[in-house]
Amino acid sequence: MRNGDPTVGIGILGAGTVGGTLVRRLVDDREAIQAKTGIDLHVRRIAVRDPAKPRAFHVPAELVTDDPGLVVDDPDVQLVVEVMGGKDPAGSLVHAALEAGKPVVTANKELIAAHGAELIALAERRGVPLLFEAAVGGGIPIIRPLAETLAGEQIERVAGIVNGTTNYILTRMGDGDDYADALAEAQALGYAEPDPTADVSGADAAAKAAILASLAFGTWVGSDAVPFEGIDRLRREDIEFARFLGYEVKLLAIATRTAAGVCARVHPAMIPAGHPLASIRAATNAIFITGPSVDELLFAGPGAGGEPTATAVLGDVIDAAREILAGAVVAPRIRFSPGEIADFGGVATKWYVRLEVEDEPGVLAQIAAAFGEEQVSIKSVWQEGEGSGATLLIITHRAAEARQRSAVESVRALDVVRSVAATLRVESPEV
Ligand SMILES: NC(=O)c1ccc[n+]([C@@H]2O[C@H](COP(=O)([O-])OP(=O)(O)OC[C@H]3O[C@@H](n4cnc5c(N)ncnc54)[C@H](OP(=O)(O)O)[C@@H]3O)[C@@H](O)[C@H]2O)c1
Repeated sequence: MRNGDPTVGIGILGAGTVGGTLVRRLVDDREAIQAKTGIDLHVRRIAVRDPAKPRAFHVPAELVTDDPGLVVDDPDVQLVVEVMGGKDPAGSLVHAALEAGKPVVTANKELIAAHGAELIALAERRGVPLLFEAAVGGGIPIIRPLAETLAGEQIERVAGIVNGTTNYILTRMGDGDDYADALAEAQALGYAEPDPTADVSGADAAAKAAILASLAFGTWVGSDAVPFEGIDRLRREDIEFARFLGYEVKLLAIATRTAAGVCARVHPAMIPAGHPLASIRAATNAIFITGPSVDELLFAGPGAGGEPTATAVLGDVIDAAREILAGAVVAPRIRFSPGEIADFGGVATKWYVRLEVEDEPGVLAQIAAAFGEEQVSIKSVWQEGEGSGATLLIITHRAAEARQRSAVESVRALDVVRSVAATLRVESPEV
């Protein structure tokens, strides 16, 4: 501790859902935090867009500014917390703070997934920490376990539910709602933004998958290397059919290390009803980490929300403040080595395919032949309906993504197939 003074000056960029809660906790719990950690965290400056907006915290008005540059440049600010969101100006502010030798704590998955490699390298050059526990899994400790606690494990796979909004919508659809009603309900409860695109398209989960894959395998995986599909085209029927077949539908982020390289992907998938991820309901997040020595570790809890996320940010703030007080140049917590990014087209899964077909003899033989030409074999088939048309539910054996896609295109072209109504990957049993 420098000169025995336990004070660390904090500057905060953004005081909305996460930042507002963080400021309140830093102010209200200041003594309790000092009693437990020996560190006196002192809020020096806060940047917001509109300083006149009413806030749920009480600080002297002169601490609040609409100029985020003032927060970064303030000589009394020793540590910068970025909870504004977005890539810009958050990225240039984080860059400036690190360049000035100030540790940075951020909750910004979008920024880290897009520019984490450069920012982490900059932090290393400047000898300061860049911490982002809150960027994935909200209140769930997952970044530190992956990067630090499990640094000695040869992690094979990270897979889980990392977007609470979509899990809430899927839970409601499983309870009988249509997609539009479930989304409207998620918006009314504040789980989904007025513009829900980032969540329902899978883009938010893809940013988190990129971060998890990078930390798990030590090879940087940018968000542009993560193929993603969302839940916006899912129909309630497919969730019901999945149940009938013994599965639940979840939006999964999956990162694996294969002989061909690291692969991260996000898409809805059917998982066996008995798998622990199948019972994760509403806005809860849950992430499995698999490795040869630890076998399987499950991390679960609230993946978003002001209070849980502010707790994760606060943990990082205390960690970084401890290093400021120690006065040491900080060794990097993780280093990234070059590595191959495997093509999703080579990843093998089973597929569920729902077809609307003519109900006439020989249909199944034609469909099986079309799959067979791509070396995709059919595991099971169910037929529903009567009259001139029928619904076929097909589950294939495992085959590479590229082959499954070509097979479905060949099936779509058959005269006896009225439509390919839905396709879903089946992740079983290992998920
Ligand atoms: N919400 C969650 O549950 C959650 C969970 C995990 C991670 N995160 C991440 O945490 C970050 C913050 O999320 P949030 O939900 O707290 O966002 P939010 O409620 O929209 O708050 C954003 C804050 O930043 C301020 N701000 C935005 N642009 C600014 C600018 N150019 N200059 C000055 N101030 C600016 C806003 O000011 P005004 O208040 O004046 O508008 C607001 O106080 C994001 O990166 C998000 O991905 C959020």
